[in-house]
Amino acid sequence: MSNIRSKNIFITGGKKLKGEIDIHGAKNSITKLLVASTLTNKKCTFYNVPEIDDLEVTIELCKSIGSEINWIKEKNIIEIHTSKIKTSKIPQRFSGKNRIPILLFGPLLARTKKASIPILGGCKIGARPVDIHFDALKKLGADINCTDNSYDATIEGKFTGNLIELRYPSVGATENAMLAAVLANGKTVIKNAAIEPEITDIVKFLQKIGAIIFTDVDRTIIIEGVEKLHGAEHSALSDRIEAASYAVAAAITDGNIFLKNAQQFSLVTFLNMFRKVGGGFTIHKKGIEFYRKESLKNLSIETDVYPGFSTDWQQPFVVLLTQAKGMSVVHETVYENRFSYTKSLNVMGAKIELHNQCLGGKKCRFQHHDYKHSAVIQGPTKLKATELTIPDLRAGFAYVLAALIADGKSKIVGLDQLYRGYDKIEEKLEKIGADISSK
Ligand code: EPU
Repeated sequence: MSNIRSKNIFITGGKKLKGEIDIHGAKNSITKLLVASTLTNKKCTFYNVPEIDDLEVTIELCKSIGSEINWIKEKNIIEIHTSKIKTSKIPQRFSGKNRIPILLFGPLLARTKKASIPILGGCKIGARPVDIHFDALKKLGADINCTDNSYDATIEGKFTGNLIELRYPSVGATENAMLAAVLANGKTVIKNAAIEPEITDIVKFLQKIGAIIFTDVDRTIIIEGVEKLHGAEHSALSDRIEAASYAVAAAITDGNIFLKNAQQFSLVTFLNMFRKVGGGFTIHKKGIEFYRKESLKNLSIETDVYPGFSTDWQQPFVVLLTQAKGMSVVHETVYENRFSYTKSLNVMGAKIELHNQCLGGKKCRFQHHDYKHSAVIQGPTKLKATELTIPDLRAGFAYVLAALIADGKSKIVGLDQLYRGYDKIEEKLEKIGADISSK
């Protein structure tokens, strides 16, 4: 499949999506794997690489510090070799692009004792501070100063192992701490660490290049610093968010989609909820087949850190729940502001109300704030086509799903967001029978 890119797309709803598509490596894994590979001056090779814009940005980022990279797109392979770090200052053009540059603190400080990284970007889904990252890096000996445009850090000698207790199991902060600790003097213990499958994928790669990392009970990761790392080959973890997005497409259109390379272990919680809402799935040797098993039923869901229901599955699921009978509740506990996309769904005919309270069960860390982080969805509702402007990556797929079942032709604007994280999205949708065009 070639990679078509349109500014806007038009989707006419009503088609049952059927067929087979490949799920390649996860955006949230491969981008970090490339950064992790810059810890070593030896060559690393990655397989199962997706064609997504966040990876293009990460490649440019690694090149900016001296990596030589060969991306063999037709084979989904990337070879990367960072024999020398040519600069410790990341150019300002990477400011606001995504969340990856901040993970270069570990490699840059370990190899050059200094790092200057522009202010971060990424999806506009909340404040997304970096305080937990910095607390962790400081514990390992980094001295960090924030200017208006950049975070500047230095280290005397080497990182020194320490006890790091994260106040929240942040994915990025856990990754930052791990990447800094692998070449540290002594032992680092990260408590309350994130344990998302993408983190485990990085642990597996770091072990391949020579790191000593234990994942212990109770969200504890223990790293014994080593002197030197070497090269390795690694196949990126398959994308569980992309897989869940297409699984919902199968159920919501009453179709049948086989997702080659989708992996059950990373989707266990999703599969439970998918079954409870009325979806069906069959686990095959080479992937998972998704369909609708029975009429869709209402549900109560709470997003959470792994192994909970991922915040990145929330948006497609909310669209699915607009088609389920009865009142559903979705409590978002990871990001304070991840429901703004529902406004456009309501314009299409959905009945979604947002609330500040923690609805549906436990109280979360947003309970005393004024954040609309719970959604009540009344279904089923018929959706009408409209023009939709994508606010962020996952909301973008929610809009695609809404357009796929809407009456009429919807225009979707702002495809750049989708290209950040969905591999060959237009070709894939076309292949499984969506009525999609660029005019
Ligand atoms: N947080 C802080 N301080 C910090 C770091 C995080 O308060 O220093 C808060 C955030 O504001 C947020 C929560 O902790 O409310 C979770 O943030 P986390 O650090 O875990 O997320 P992240 O590393 O920035 C990654 C993924 C996100 C995914 C989250 C949660 C990447 C590049 N991004 O973000 O993916 O939602 O973990 O699993 O890996 C996406 O793919 O669309 C996406 C947004």
